[in-house]
Amino acid sequence: MADRKIIAVVGATGAQGGGLVRAIINDPGSGFTARAFTRDVTSEKAKALAKLGAEVVAADLDDVASLKRAFTGAYGLFCLTNFWEHFSPEREYAQAKSQAEAARAAGVQHVIWSTLEDTRKWVPLSDNRMPTLMGTYKVPHFDAKGAADQEFANHGVPTTFLLTSFYWENMIFFGMGPKKGPDGVFRFTLPMEGKKLPGIAVEDIGRCAVGIFKNKSEYVGKTVGIAGEHLTGEEMAAAMTRAFGQTVHYNAVTPAQYRAFGFRGAEDLGNMFQFKSDFNEVFCGARNPAVAKRLHPALQTFDVWLAQNKSRIPLV
Ligand SMILES: NC(=O)c1ccc[n+]([C@@H]2O[C@H](COP(=O)([O-])OP(=O)(O)OC[C@H]3O[C@@H](n4cnc5c(N)ncnc54)[C@H](OP(=O)(O)O)[C@@H]3O)[C@@H](O)[C@H]2O)c1
Repeated sequence: MADRKIIAVVGATGAQGGGLVRAIINDPGSGFTARAFTRDVTSEKAKALAKLGAEVVAADLDDVASLKRAFTGAYGLFCLTNFWEHFSPEREYAQAKSQAEAARAAGVQHVIWSTLEDTRKWVPLSDNRMPTLMGTYKVPHFDAKGAADQEFANHGVPTTFLLTSFYWENMIFFGMGPKKGPDGVFRFTLPMEGKKLPGIAVEDIGRCAVGIFKNKSEYVGKTVGIAGEHLTGEEMAAAMTRAFGQTVHYNAVTPAQYRAFGFRGAEDLGNMFQFKSDFNEVFCGARNPAVAKRLHPALQTFDVWLAQNKSRIPLV
């Protein structure tokens, strides 16, 4: 163990980071070992990671001194922020900046920053196709991540900028699965017209990240976009119809209708889907399933993921 390089993982008890910790532990030939960060080392998820063989360490993204301590001795670092915990793009930016600062202080040799586009590069605040949110954002949970890319560059940290895709698990945990209407028909709702949505099995993000850490010289300083597949709403509904043995229709609403759904974050997500749809070539072009497959040859397609996970999607 002592001769293995430590990959330190932010968000280790969560979806992306948890997948990375498991991918490292399941790939002993990689030469890496996993250091998993959490605010609560006594949680069930933290204990489960320790049981798998990860070193579990306390660190808080709001406390840069804790990050500097926690990153010390690490070769690689996976950086993440969780917008949906606090809904504050400014806090998300500050947490990314703290990670860049601590990575530099600790002399980490390769960072993967799980980022997204600053959509304002394509949709300036003056563009009224979608509302400006929270004062200075179009898609707050994208824009702050993309804006924070400069912190990794400015701190001189050797970074790979990882563009992730829509998790298919959003249908399990985020209420985005098909819903049964009063007419008894199941509808899968997306404001994406006939455009393709890059999606991925979240566990595959961590597996691709291992591939990036293994090939530092190829990926450092680069932006790498990954997806399992690019599928239209119709194609996703057809795949679910096959998997469930139950007809699922694609319900193409407009971004404005989606923004008005009223749940917390609906406006942010409505703008996000409109960005993905209006700039579909740019968005899909930045997330190449072939690149993901090269990093992780057993990359799942939507059909393969559905076969494993359909029983976890609440059909109500
Ligand atoms: N859903 C999607 O389709 C999708 C697609 C692309 C990108 N994303 C982005 O993914 C991000 C969330 O990642 P995820 O889905 O992997 O998260 P997740 O499963 O919700 O877990 C959040 C993780 O972040 C850690 N965390 C949160 N605040 C922290 C803090 N202050 N200090 C230390 N650790 C903290 C949590 O650790 P503890 O609670 O154990 O401390 C936990 O491990 C979001 O920013 C979202 O925008 C989502």
